[in-house]
Amino acid sequence: MEIRNHDLIILGSGLAGLRAAVEAANVSKGELDIAIISKTQLTRPHSVCAEGGTGCCLRPEEGDSLELHAWDTVKGSDFLADQDAVQIFVEAMPKEIYLQDQMGCPWSRREDGRINQRPFGGHSFPRAVFAADKTGFFEVHALYDTMQKYNNITRYDDVMATSLLVEDKQFRGLTCVDLARGTFITFNAKALILATGGACRIYGFTTYSYTVTGDGMAIAYRAGLPLKDMEFVQFHPTGLIPSGVLITEAARGEGGYLRNNKGERFMDKYAPKMKETAPRDIVSRSEMLEIEAGRGFKGPNGLDYIHLDLTHLGAEKINERLPLIREVSIKFADVDPIDKPIPIRPAAHYSMGGVHVDNDGACPDVQGIWAAGEVACVSIHGANRLGSNSTAECLVWGGITGNRAAKYAMKQKKLPEPLLEKAYYEEHRVMDAIFRRKNTENFYEIRSKLREVLDTHVGVFRTQEGLEKALSTIKELQKRFEYCGIKDKNRIYNTDLVSYLEMENMLQLAEVMTKGALDRKESRGGHARRDYPNRDDENWLKHTLAYYTPTGPRMEYSPVNISIWKPVERKY
Ligand code: FUM
Repeated sequence: MEIRNHDLIILGSGLAGLRAAVEAANVSKGELDIAIISKTQLTRPHSVCAEGGTGCCLRPEEGDSLELHAWDTVKGSDFLADQDAVQIFVEAMPKEIYLQDQMGCPWSRREDGRINQRPFGGHSFPRAVFAADKTGFFEVHALYDTMQKYNNITRYDDVMATSLLVEDKQFRGLTCVDLARGTFITFNAKALILATGGACRIYGFTTYSYTVTGDGMAIAYRAGLPLKDMEFVQFHPTGLIPSGVLITEAARGEGGYLRNNKGERFMDKYAPKMKETAPRDIVSRSEMLEIEAGRGFKGPNGLDYIHLDLTHLGAEKINERLPLIREVSIKFADVDPIDKPIPIRPAAHYSMGGVHVDNDGACPDVQGIWAAGEVACVSIHGANRLGSNSTAECLVWGGITGNRAAKYAMKQKKLPEPLLEKAYYEEHRVMDAIFRRKNTENFYEIRSKLREVLDTHVGVFRTQEGLEKALSTIKELQKRFEYCGIKDKNRIYNTDLVSYLEMENMLQLAEVMTKGALDRKESRGGHARRDYPNRDDENWLKHTLAYYTPTGPRMEYSPVNISIWKPVERKY
């Protein structure tokens, strides 16, 4: 087993991880030895798939305000967001946009040269700052380029974490597989920032990259850190048929219409004021209701769909503002949106829940661990995130955690002693036991079944019966997984091993999400129960905290910060 020592480790190289790395390198002025570890090549995080924009109040002189951004976010969250955290978020955002500008992000501009902004769902002001429809790609590369200025950051590409080493509520290190070399590494460090993204690859029909399987959430959970609000999953209204590739909300922000099979713009019925730019939970439910009422189009493999019509926008606007959407629609659905509507339906898109952290992004349960971006739940998104607030959150809490973790690491005199016994046990489990295990079950089949169950029963609408069925199937799949091994015995880039480890993580997280959804007997934001159709503030205005036990999650609850606005009915 190799042992590597660093002062600060950042796990994940998406927007949050890169922003944290740059901040930590900056505040530590060369004093810290920093590592950034990524399961993929460093420049291929899922953040590059973020398309439509980054939410920020930039134009008070035109009627926007920090207070309005905060209010839209809290109302969008169905009042489950912590309002003190939302306040921190909106106040920090303008600086992040200008920092990106200085780092070279090619923001789309107005004719007068100032940074442009476009409308996005649930925002009462055009607030999404954008770089055409490739916003995340350009933000990632601006940060990646900036990171090259620092010579105290070591990068580890294609390295997958398998466990956190924690003792006496103190972070002590991390175990990983170096996928390229097929070796096992124990990282010894003073502090860790988790920035590994969300968990929606648990679903079959999703906008996620294949790599984003909730690994950071799962290793934190197994190490005893609670996961917060995991039952809240966002379904993006416009996943392309049949792949699920994201068709950005900016397509509707720029004026696109949703139409049913009668050609009607049905959003008038469900959100008379905001229509297609209502928040995602409302638009996704509206689409499903149209499909269920027989007003959708017949799609492949049960993927009935709705039309997203951009034809009235004209070629010039589509080519300037939505070039990626045009390319993706032509390549993956054989539809040129200049002439024809795009086939879409709701797709799993975002984990509102994640590792429980405080407003500094610190894990209160274990000293020395921070989390930022989608892996974390601060919580500013509550039960339903507003579009464009996720890349924004990555920038803000990437910055905050980079700063706090670096300062903490600088104060620690020496590296902790490595937890060798635990690390050797984990090396044996991953590099020997899994390879030797008899392979009487096929875990790729188990993965397909898991995704089918989540798509069917833990989707846009949920019921007690469906969730119970899902939970018992997940338990059954967990049992079957015990009989799985891997066929490929090679050590170098063993994708069987990666899929096996991901599967283990997804099975645990699916259980937490489904159990949370089963227990929460109300409808709020992205969690819509047909059998409990109303929000129930009296009993359920609280966060769920799921703690690992060997027999399944133990649930606790914690209060929501409601320091500014009392919950009211959401109308759009
Ligand atoms: O639709 C989009 O471009 C996605 C943005 C987001 O999830 O914030």
